[in-house]
Amino acid sequence: PIPNPPEPLRAGQNGLKLVNDAAHPFKTQGTDEIRGPCPALNTLANHGYLPRSGVARPDQIVTAVMEGLNLGNDFAKFLTYQAFLMNGNPLTNLMSIGMKTPLTGQDPPKPAQVGGLSQHGTFEGDTSMSRVDAFFGDPAAFNQTRFNDLLAYATKYGVNGTYDVTAASELRYERLQDSIATNPQLVFTSPRILSAYSEAVFPTVYFVDGRLNNRQLTQQAATSFFAMQRMPQDFHRQPAPVSFEVIEPLTGKLFKDHPFVPGVNHGKNNYIEMPQTPAVSDFCGIYRDIALRVIPEQYPRPTGPLKDAIKKNLVFLYGAVSFQHNCTQVFPYGK
Ligand code: HEM
Ligand code: MG
Repeated sequence: PIPNPPEPLRAGQNGLKLVNDAAHPFKTQGTDEIRGPCPALNTLANHGYLPRSGVARPDQIVTAVMEGLNLGNDFAKFLTYQAFLMNGNPLTNLMSIGMKTPLTGQDPPKPAQVGGLSQHGTFEGDTSMSRVDAFFGDPAAFNQTRFNDLLAYATKYGVNGTYDVTAASELRYERLQDSIATNPQLVFTSPRILSAYSEAVFPTVYFVDGRLNNRQLTQQAATSFFAMQRMPQDFHRQPAPVSFEVIEPLTGKLFKDHPFVPGVNHGKNNYIEMPQTPAVSDFCGIYRDIALRVIPEQYPRPTGPLKDAIKKNLVFLYGAVSFQHNCTQVFPYGK
C-alpha cells in the first residue's frame, strides 16, 4: 500500500505563512536522530515538519517541503522521488535523510544500496557548498571551512553582502574549479550536475523570508539554516509555491555565467569531459537517465512486490516532469 504523492496545497492554503510557529518548535536532534547532507531537510526535521527521527516516507517529504518552504508540488515530487529511488527502501517505503540505518527495514537484494541521502555518488555528490567531497571526509557533515567560503562569496559578490544569485554563480564555479584541482576522484555528471546547480540557487529563494522575497539571503539567515539547521525567528515561507519555472532561469544564469562540461577527474587536475550526459536544465533528460541507467544499476532484475514498488515510484517521478512537453515516459521494467 504505497500512498500516492500528495496533491498541491489548495488555493487559500498555499500563500505567505509563518512557518517557524508554535506547532513546529525547533529542537536539536537527539542522539539517535539522523540528519544528513541537505540543510533544508535537516531544518524541517528539527522543526517537526518531518519525523524528527530523520526517517520518512517520500509523501511525508513532499508534504514537508510544500508546507514548510512552499515548494511547488511538481518540483517537490521531482526532488523527492528521484532521491527515494536512489536512496530509499522501496519495500518499506522509508528513506533516511542521512546515513544508512536499520530503521528503514530489511533491504532488498544487492546491488540495491538503500544508503540514505548521505550515500555518496547518488544524489549526494561532489562540489557541495557546505560539505566536503567524499574523498576528503564525511560528505554529509556540515563543514565550517566550506561554509565560511560561502559567506566570503556573499561578502565579495552579493548585494549588501547577501548570498544572491551573483554570489551563487561565482561560488558554484569556484567549487567546481577547486574540486578539479584537488580531488583526484571528482565526479561531476548527471544526476549530480542538476542538484549542484539547483542547490546553489535554492537558498536565494526558499531560505529568504517570504515577506521580503528579494532573492537576497542575509548571512545571518544563511547561518541559521546551514549551520544551526534552524529557521530564523519569525520565518515566513515563500508567498506562493515556487517550482521549475522560477528555479530553471536562475540555474540557467549560473550556467551562462560559467559554462562547464560534465566530467570526471582521472587524478587531480585531469578532468575528462563527458559531454553526452544530460544538460543541467534538461529535467526530462535527467528523468530518463535516472530511469534507464541509474536505477537499473541498483535494481537490475527486480521481481514481485519490489518490482511493483519501483515501477510505481518511477511513475511518480515521471508525473513530476510530464509538464515538459515531449517528455516521453520510459519503462525500464516493462509497462
Ligand atoms: C543538498 C536532498 C529539498 C537545499 C542536498 C543533498 C541532498 C538533498 C541529497 C546533498 C547534495 C550534495 O550537496 O552533495 C534533497 C531532497 C529534497 C531536498 C530529497 C526534497 C524535496 C531541498 C530544498 C531546499 C534544499 C527544498 C531549499 C533550500 C539544499 C541545499 C543543498 C542541498 C542548499 C546544498 C548543500 C551544500 O552544497 O552544501 N539536498 N533536498 N533542498 N539541499 Fe536539498
Ligand atoms: Mg556533496
